[in-house]
Amino acid sequence: MCGITGYIGHREAYPIVINGLKRLEYRGYDSAGIMIYDGKNIQLSKTKGKVSDLESITNASPTKKVGKIGIGHTRWATHGVPNDVNSHPHFSQSGNLVIVHNGIIENYDTLRKELISRGYTFKSDTDTEVLVNLIEEVKKQEGCKLGKAVQLALNNVIGAYAIAVFDKTKPNEVVVARLGSPIAIGVGKNESEFFIASDASPFLEYTKDVVYLEDEELAIIKLGRAIKVRKIKDDSLVDPNIQELKMNLEEIEKGGYEHFMLKEIYEQPKAIIDTYRGRMLPDSGIIKMAGVDDNLNKFLNAERIIIIACGTSWHAGLVGEYLIEDMARIPVEVEYASEFRYRNPIITNKDVVIAISQSGETADTLAAIKLAKSKGAFVFGICNVVGSSIARETHAGAYTHAGPEIGVASTKAFTTQITVLSLISLKLAKSKGTLSDSAFRMYLQKLQLVPNSVEQLLKIDEKVKEIANHYKNATNCLYLGRGFNFPVALEGALKLKEISYIHAEGYPAAEMKHGPIALIDENMPVFVIATNKGHYEKVVSNIQEIKSRAGKIIAVVTEGDVTVKEIADHVIEIPETEEALTPLLTTIPFQLLSYHIAVLLGKNVDQPRNLAKSVTVE
Ligand code: AGP
Repeated sequence: MCGITGYIGHREAYPIVINGLKRLEYRGYDSAGIMIYDGKNIQLSKTKGKVSDLESITNASPTKKVGKIGIGHTRWATHGVPNDVNSHPHFSQSGNLVIVHNGIIENYDTLRKELISRGYTFKSDTDTEVLVNLIEEVKKQEGCKLGKAVQLALNNVIGAYAIAVFDKTKPNEVVVARLGSPIAIGVGKNESEFFIASDASPFLEYTKDVVYLEDEELAIIKLGRAIKVRKIKDDSLVDPNIQELKMNLEEIEKGGYEHFMLKEIYEQPKAIIDTYRGRMLPDSGIIKMAGVDDNLNKFLNAERIIIIACGTSWHAGLVGEYLIEDMARIPVEVEYASEFRYRNPIITNKDVVIAISQSGETADTLAAIKLAKSKGAFVFGICNVVGSSIARETHAGAYTHAGPEIGVASTKAFTTQITVLSLISLKLAKSKGTLSDSAFRMYLQKLQLVPNSVEQLLKIDEKVKEIANHYKNATNCLYLGRGFNFPVALEGALKLKEISYIHAEGYPAAEMKHGPIALIDENMPVFVIATNKGHYEKVVSNIQEIKSRAGKIIAVVTEGDVTVKEIADHVIEIPETEEALTPLLTTIPFQLLSYHIAVLLGKNVDQPRNLAKSVTVE
């Protein structure tokens, strides 16, 4: 996720754009840039780092701040590590076109090769620079205006985008377009000025009249003239729907949600899609992951895979163990990085280590990686922050594309980590022949259905809120799961602990009889995952054992379940999927449950006490 913003009108553009970028830093903050058109020349400043670093650069060159047209960008890298050259805005080869982009162009490599064959050269590693040169090439070939060139070019693009494009040769307009990433256009009085942004927060103080572009729409913004909105597919005109903004600044930054955590829970369908986009091709039955493909033999010949992580990422690693062993039959061990780094582990060059980290900065995980590398292991990283320390320290890796995760309690990072681990497990299983082609293709089809299932599942929010109200005053809770859902039980307990401060423990359901069942009485809520293919009958027995001791059962079951419905106190139904993929769904009710209990208890959901989003110290 990145933030884009722009201005065209009678005011000085710089302060509007630079302050707008500050408002959008929650969307990404690894690099930033700004273009100001001074009536004659394009003044471009960009840098790795935050908007404040960009401001230091522009303050040193005041002439770069003068002009009434500007576009800016604050980056969350997806292609190309964060550095000055990969920062946006990007010029086209002629220097006439300038673009800022939020999204991922999946077919950028093919487009880039085609443009190189036509004499284009590239300065950066970004998909965005490919896009602006594609627009330039179309403009040149068709002899058309910018708006038409953007429309034609985007019909050759696969992926997600929100773009703003400026043409120095036609300096009284800006063209914007979107597919899958948001764009809001602020409309000034009498079309005397226009504001562009990823959300309305940068221009809320200037105008409350806004046009939210719909997917596959393009807008030509020209001073003194009503916005022209067109369909990218066929260039047909669309009536711009100018609406009055009702949200305040804080509401806009949270996308209208009360907390970042809730926003990020609801972002999971898109985050999962963005994570498998371009990597999973169900129709052709292929999984493409450069970091794995380039090191496939290391994985296939590994004597074992050691997964190291902390917290929620460790729980995702545990799901990974079940997936890889079940599908690819490669031995896996999962270790807390904080333990691994100090216990003098046996590591050889026959080991593959997978390090999982949302922030890419967790000190224990980073130290464990260095230890593994020092002993000859190949280390593969799964991170959410491009160019983070862990991403740079590992030999190879795969990014989750969850976008910035602001809430301390990790949610979309967990489901996107499991998505990457599912892709790796399936790819290794296919390569080893431990999974038939038909089973492999079935899994790809089922994985492609997960985002929609999550979308459907999020409709249980109100029901979960009612359950939360029942149990918000509990002092202890148990979470139980088996198989692939044992790690989800651990994760559910962690979510509750870290934001509501209620003590909770996750356990393998079968372990109850080895001690924890002594805890059961009418004051002990027990959250149990009882999906229909996950040792169902055994879990039902576990539930009956608890009910017979007056325990309270809140069960997560597969849609259509009847047995558990008769014995549990509350039931939350999830859509059916393959058991190995159920963690992507069963975790959602527990995320919502912990969120609502914490809100009902008046806790600081996004920044719970004693915790930091990234534990960069021991
Ligand atoms: C999970 O909700 C917590 N925020 C915490 O356990 C977190 O998962 C852990 O600190 C690891 O962080 P990382 O994924 O950034 O390495």
